[in-house]
Amino acid sequence: MRKILITGGAGFIGSHVIRRFVNKYENYQIYNLDKLTYAGNLENLVDIESKKNYTFIKGDICNEYFINELFKKHKFDSVIHLAAESHVDRSITDPLAFAKTNILGTMVLLNAFKEIWKSNLEDKLFYHVSTDEVYGSLGETGFFTEDTPYDPNSPYSASKASSDHFVRAYGETYNIPYVISNCSNNYGANQFPEKLIPLFINNIINNRELPVYGDGNYTRDWLYVIDHAIAIDLVFHKGENKETYNIGGFNEWRNIDLVKVLCKQMDLKLKRQEGESEKLIVYVKDRPGHDLRYAIDASKINKELNWSPSVTFEEGLSLTIDWYLTNKVWMSNVVKGDYKTYYNKQYK
Ligand code: NAD
Ligand code: DAU
Repeated sequence: MRKILITGGAGFIGSHVIRRFVNKYENYQIYNLDKLTYAGNLENLVDIESKKNYTFIKGDICNEYFINELFKKHKFDSVIHLAAESHVDRSITDPLAFAKTNILGTMVLLNAFKEIWKSNLEDKLFYHVSTDEVYGSLGETGFFTEDTPYDPNSPYSASKASSDHFVRAYGETYNIPYVISNCSNNYGANQFPEKLIPLFINNIINNRELPVYGDGNYTRDWLYVIDHAIAIDLVFHKGENKETYNIGGFNEWRNIDLVKVLCKQMDLKLKRQEGESEKLIVYVKDRPGHDLRYAIDASKINKELNWSPSVTFEEGLSLTIDWYLTNKVWMSNVVKGDYKTYYNKQYK
């Protein structure tokens, strides 16, 4: 019997990780700790919420007293830490919120873990889920490997880089067993419509403009979220102590090309005339400090843990669009209230 604390499980990636662990490992007790910020949504987990091996706990990872008491009560043997402020644009308008949750929140968890297990660390694991953005920006060529020096450019990536350093420092200083994975851009069901793909799907459905930042030539590597959850499962069970694993989709797209592919698929699915959605594209003011290109060399996880993406981008994108077209109530619930204020401030 393992007792695993998964933080940020009501968010996009966290909900897919929770679903996988709860359904696949019936003998594990899975605890989902989430503050339910604007990005957390228990509707993401309705299909597993009544399972016997699943417990939801509402709480803030920055609340030291609460976290310490929680660890004393449950004595989690492992943590899979996903809770974070995750949107680059929001980190530009409110950087302190990112330092607080992503750096201090991670430290509060590390401290509680250290205090509860002291030197009794056998079979314990702190798994920190991080991002490829910590490596900064690539030029036209090259890839991020696990040895690429950190060079973050946004308050979001700087806060994630800092949290990665603290995890390593706790590993070195207090012998906390840890693994870190750094993943590229995820897409799939349940992603909050502030990120490129769900925002553009929602805007196409509603015939609203598609705001492409700058010249649209920025490049990202895209991975289907279920393939990330599969990779997290593998790293959790088979990753080597104190190792980092880069996770990516071998799937680079310039933003503008990706948006055009998305528009084509949407035209087909919505039975619109070819080219209709593309007419919604507008070029808008660029994101400050916008990283030109991310590209992951995922050969380590591929070779050592035998992981590779299970779907092509076209398949994953099609499944994603279908999910949003089927789950219009999910979307209308998340775009209520504060979302409109955020959207108007960001895009007007
Ligand atoms: P998300 O924003 O969808 O979800 C974050 C979750 O964390 C939400 O449920 C939110 O309520 C919760 N949370 C935020 N602050 C909290 C706090 N103080 N205490 C407790 N819970 C809190 O994020 P996501 O896209 O699912 O990303 C999850 C993790 O994966 C993050 O650590 C992110 O840096 C990392 N990551 C994301 C991507 C991506 O493309 N989305 C890629 C690589 C790595
Ligand atoms: O690389 C991993 C990271 O990917 C994760 O760590 C982050 O949590 C996640 O948010 C994501 O960061 P990005 O900034 O790359 O994702 P986003 O969806 O915000 O933007 C993708 C690209 O699209 C980026 O180049 C900016 C551009 N963009 C985005 C939005 C929201 C636009 O052109 N217009 C938009 O409206």
